[in-house]
Amino acid sequence: MFDAYIKSDRRTNIGSGGWMNIVDKFLKAKQYCQHPFEVTFHNGRKKKIYTSGEWIGEFREHTGRLDSKNVDIRCESSTTAELPPGILDAVITDPPYFANVQYAELMDFCYVWLRRLVGKDNPVFAGPSTRNENELTGNATLERGLDYFTQGLSQVFRRFSAALKPGSPFVFTFHHNSLEAYYPVVVALLDAGLVCTASIPCPAEMSASIHINGTGSSIVDTVFVNRSTGTVSRRILTRDVAGIARLVLDDLGRLEAGGLKPTLGDARCVLYGHLARLAVWYLRHSWDVNLPCTDKLNRIDLFVQELGGLKVIEGYLPKDIAVRCKRWETVREVDADYGEEEDEVSF
Ligand SMILES: C[S@@+](CC[C@H](N)C(=O)[O-])C[C@H]1O[C@@H](n2cnc3c(N)ncnc32)[C@H](O)[C@@H]1O
Repeated sequence: MFDAYIKSDRRTNIGSGGWMNIVDKFLKAKQYCQHPFEVTFHNGRKKKIYTSGEWIGEFREHTGRLDSKNVDIRCESSTTAELPPGILDAVITDPPYFANVQYAELMDFCYVWLRRLVGKDNPVFAGPSTRNENELTGNATLERGLDYFTQGLSQVFRRFSAALKPGSPFVFTFHHNSLEAYYPVVVALLDAGLVCTASIPCPAEMSASIHINGTGSSIVDTVFVNRSTGTVSRRILTRDVAGIARLVLDDLGRLEAGGLKPTLGDARCVLYGHLARLAVWYLRHSWDVNLPCTDKLNRIDLFVQELGGLKVIEGYLPKDIAVRCKRWETVREVDADYGEEEDEVSF
């Protein structure tokens, strides 16, 4: 299909160009699998750094021989996935962001057409819809609230962290405009015995969304890096509200240096990432995995109250966020955090 697309090169766009864009993206993804790369910026220009010998896939023909890898793709719920203990080198995932997107409801629009093409005999397409009782999203219509989401996420994190080699990274992204939606993430990490060693803000694909363009909504996801054992920088373990706000400004300054114009919404999301990380760190010793879900969620809320409460913490974020970030970036000693040897705390 890709060959035909490349050879004919008849790129007459009719309509919004959505189909062409999707094919282009798919093609780029396939090319990326053949030659994966990282991106760096040099003098404001994007530079691809290819990883020599690396490729992604099950097999490839390369210099006259067939290379193969073990790939295990399953179409099943992660809440019930069976995995042998200690086999994984890393878990890298992108769970649903509570109720932000109703995947099954959206997918049904494609599913009904695909089902006609593939046929109902294929077990994956046997059902009349993609709706699934194991779907892990908040959904008011289906009465799936924070408890449901928390319990499901906890099951997934427990299963996958048990399958992880000790000390290996368990990494995922998360984003929500409400702090409460981060509480299930904290519960799931604590239940799984994981410690969050970094919460790294990262511009998300939503930056391209026409729905939120110019609305001031946040386009920053947090990448949570977690491990069962390792070290964490003491610098990011502050319990002091002003110190937490400084971490947020620090992050926003870096994002701005990378070309993002941070909004107050972005600042809040970055803050929520830090609060979630800190809740895991400070609650881990007294955590009781056997408590009812609601009690666990309340325990995290109490932690935020003990810090001073969200309103007070948010009050430390300047309203003129973009201006402040710029100022912060120019006054701080940029190399200090990276250049000096950091004081690490083991866990
Ligand atoms: C944030 S999206 C990930 C999107 C993905 N990174 C991508 O670029 O396509 C979350 C995904 O989790 C899936 N999901 C929801 N409940 C699940 C479950 N119980 N087990 C496995 N996946 C689930 C959703 O259908 C959705 O595709």
